[in-house]
Amino acid sequence: MEMEKLVSLCRRRGFLFQSSEIYGGLNGFWDYGPLGVELKRNLKDAWWRDMVSAHDDLDTLAGAPSPYEMVGLDCTIIMHPQVWKNSGHHDLFVDEMVDCRESKKRYRYDQVLGRWASCDGKKSQGPPKQLSGPTFDVKGAEYDKIFVTSIGEEPESEIERRAMKHFKLRAKDADKLSWDGPAVTLDKINVADFDKTLGPDATGLGTLTEPRDFNLMFPTTIGALAGEEGRAFLRPETAQGIFVNFKNVIDSTRVRVPVGIAQVGKSFRNEITPRNFTFRSREFEQMEIEFFCHPDESRKWYEYWRNRRMAWWQEMGLAGDRLILRDHHADELSHYSTGTADIEYAFPFLPEGEYGELEGIAHRGDFDLRSHMEGKLDPNSCPLTVQLGEDGKPLHRGSGKDLTYRDEVTNERFTPHVIEPSAGADRGALAILCEAYTEDTAPDDKGKEQTRLSMKFHPRIAPIKAAVFPLVKKDGMPEVAKDLYRALKKKFPAFYDEKGAVGRRYRRQDEVGTPYCITVDGQTLDDKTVTLRDRDSLEQVRIRLDDAVEEIERRVTG
Ligand code: GAP
Repeated sequence: MEMEKLVSLCRRRGFLFQSSEIYGGLNGFWDYGPLGVELKRNLKDAWWRDMVSAHDDLDTLAGAPSPYEMVGLDCTIIMHPQVWKNSGHHDLFVDEMVDCRESKKRYRYDQVLGRWASCDGKKSQGPPKQLSGPTFDVKGAEYDKIFVTSIGEEPESEIERRAMKHFKLRAKDADKLSWDGPAVTLDKINVADFDKTLGPDATGLGTLTEPRDFNLMFPTTIGALAGEEGRAFLRPETAQGIFVNFKNVIDSTRVRVPVGIAQVGKSFRNEITPRNFTFRSREFEQMEIEFFCHPDESRKWYEYWRNRRMAWWQEMGLAGDRLILRDHHADELSHYSTGTADIEYAFPFLPEGEYGELEGIAHRGDFDLRSHMEGKLDPNSCPLTVQLGEDGKPLHRGSGKDLTYRDEVTNERFTPHVIEPSAGADRGALAILCEAYTEDTAPDDKGKEQTRLSMKFHPRIAPIKAAVFPLVKKDGMPEVAKDLYRALKKKFPAFYDEKGAVGRRYRRQDEVGTPYCITVDGQTLDDKTVTLRDRDSLEQVRIRLDDAVEEIERRVTG
């Protein structure tokens, strides 16, 4: 599917518009139209219902180590600035960027990949391929210069694999690129440092401007206070609202660890180059769970959530092989994490074989609760240490509040470990739109096969669940159809259409993904039956008019 076709459909049929379009638009900001708002809401509602409100806390769900509880929160977008200091966002949520003078392309330093990556929202698979040269045996040798060359022999260690995948190394005869750091044994190279030092030169990107830091948080001002005093930020993730309320939730409810606290809401990131429709936006919605559990149980819970979340996206209609679950390599993990997996989708704007992240499931240990208790002073240190200023006082304080948990049964006190399934509602909606887009053929009013465009949404996610048509605008058919439409509307979004040939009406509904169309015709007036047409199979069956609402309800919720 070509992305342009989907973008055009989204605009034409009212799924998505560019924000402030009449003023020329605003890059990285998107408005959901009448159909888009229903689609995204259905996705968020399904998530909330499946994860929180309909969660069975009395039974052990398949794959779960034990029963657990789930509750929700709705926190503010602007929080105390110290939250971001101790979460690490203030100091670490930065992108380094450079511009290529020749191509005018912008590159950001990707902390996860450990190298410069194009700002086009794609997961770049490494530097351009023009580098060439001999290869060499990297095992055990010590070098004070490292050079970039072409792909050579099979790498032996993970570090070699990554380095060779991205750069390809050779030790001698090199005169172009050099490692400025101390002499290193290749096994010990931290690829991220290595890449950063060699930087853009190593990728053969051409002449680049000096790297500059860029914090992704949107600053704002509280009240009339100017300067640092009134300075605050729009939240870059919903997660921190959950961590800082952990104690409030435990103290004010009867929930006990293991417990998940969920939140859906807007987050803001001043992305350097927002791209690829809504995939990388500056304002977007997240659906996040922070799941608090005993440290000894955390590995099992991580496995549970990793699998549960993948199954959920499949249930939402992303059941094909475009959806994958990718475990992070050990050297991709943060120092506090013992496991992270991404649920990724092969978006059509990505090159063949590349995937974009829909959700990350991370084992975060006790990193966040400890940061908010003790403060995060040296962001790179692990475990957290308190750096003292010249006056002997800690440089940045945590809240000083006790966020540990006492198990009422065992009396054990511990700092819970956290598993974080963190999903994007906009990326989810985009993946669902991409997956649903289908071009096939269907017979027109004269029985002739015609090309058809349909959005094959899962009925639970479809913006409109059913459309009702009177075959003709006479003989009492519109009256019967309108009554049925009103009855359906009491339950879920429905649509009434009496304009044009019935085949054209079907096509209009196919294009917006309505799974069922009901037609009131001459026979309805005789025997009180209607035709029910299925969007995907095109099958038409007659059902009793009186059963129509119940039948649609069964099909869209079943
Ligand atoms: N609390 C963890 C966290 O925020 P993240 O991987 O930065 O993790 C989680 O974000 C999810 O939020 C991503 O998997 C993605 O779906 C969504 N997301 C992140 N940045 C986004 C952006 N600029 N535009 C749209 N969605 C984004």
